[in-house]
Amino acid sequence: MTYKVQTLNNISSKGLDRLPRELYEIASELSRPDAIILRSANMHEMEIPASVRAIGRAGAGVNNIPVADMSKRGVPVFNAPGANANAVKELVLSGLLLSSRNLMGAWRYVEELTSSGEDLKKEVEAGKKRFKGIELPGRTLGIAGLGAIGVNVANAAQSLGMSVLGFDPGITVNNAWRLHAGVSEALSIDELLSRSDFVTLHVPLVEDTRGLIDAKRLKLMRKNAVLLNFSRAEIVDEDAVLAALDAGKLSYYICDFPSEKLRGHARVVTLPHLGASTDEAEDNSAVMVADQLRDYLEVGNIRNS
Ligand code: MLT
Repeated sequence: MTYKVQTLNNISSKGLDRLPRELYEIASELSRPDAIILRSANMHEMEIPASVRAIGRAGAGVNNIPVADMSKRGVPVFNAPGANANAVKELVLSGLLLSSRNLMGAWRYVEELTSSGEDLKKEVEAGKKRFKGIELPGRTLGIAGLGAIGVNVANAAQSLGMSVLGFDPGITVNNAWRLHAGVSEALSIDELLSRSDFVTLHVPLVEDTRGLIDAKRLKLMRKNAVLLNFSRAEIVDEDAVLAALDAGKLSYYICDFPSEKLRGHARVVTLPHLGASTDEAEDNSAVMVADQLRDYLEVGNIRNS
């Protein structure tokens, strides 16, 4: 017997190699697949064949998959929580440092200088003043979402000397301690926003988190705070972010998604969803879901769906 696994995105070969070819036929086009393995392809827009018995998401978020419909059909959706936590943490750290030292503006400033000699020296001096930064020790980082990524970020921020506040609807302060999350206090989202110099979002996109950071909540933030969104674009109201940037409330918005509204803004960094785009995270995620698919298809074991 051969299991047919359809891939909707490029999946790391390290992951696919967990599915032995004598047992698995793997291709991007297949009729009557037993399982689908994907990264961020949008399954809401596709007809999912009735033959599909399991779905493997080589990533953490499952908002690109109609999970409720699949549950009704008895199709488990496996994901890979934690497999990309280090990759996302490193990007969050880059965002903290980019913003605290005004690196994007400073870089652009130097790129655009055209003078030379004494005039250039004066412009460099002016840039030094204009792009003066702040240091991270003693600053407060608020983390919304204390899953694998949030906890990794908390530990890293703590080792940089930051105080770390956490919000997670599902985790109480005692649990956060038990998880060694490096979080000194677990708060409501409103309190977290009002007490943090930097806020980083790591909640999944579900009905309760869509638009979580809206105009009302942005008003609670400290003046010159930095907002980092490596979660999902829809968690933040972009019009409200623009207004907060222009009112001098937010100093930077750094997010992992392209945005037509925000493109070109001097204090916005938008990225092409790079959080999990490292060799290591792609391998880890693909291995984790391939192992789960295999367990399910061959033995009927369900873990982590
Ligand atoms: C995730 O949720 O883990 C990411 O969206 C993964 C990816 O980029 O595919």
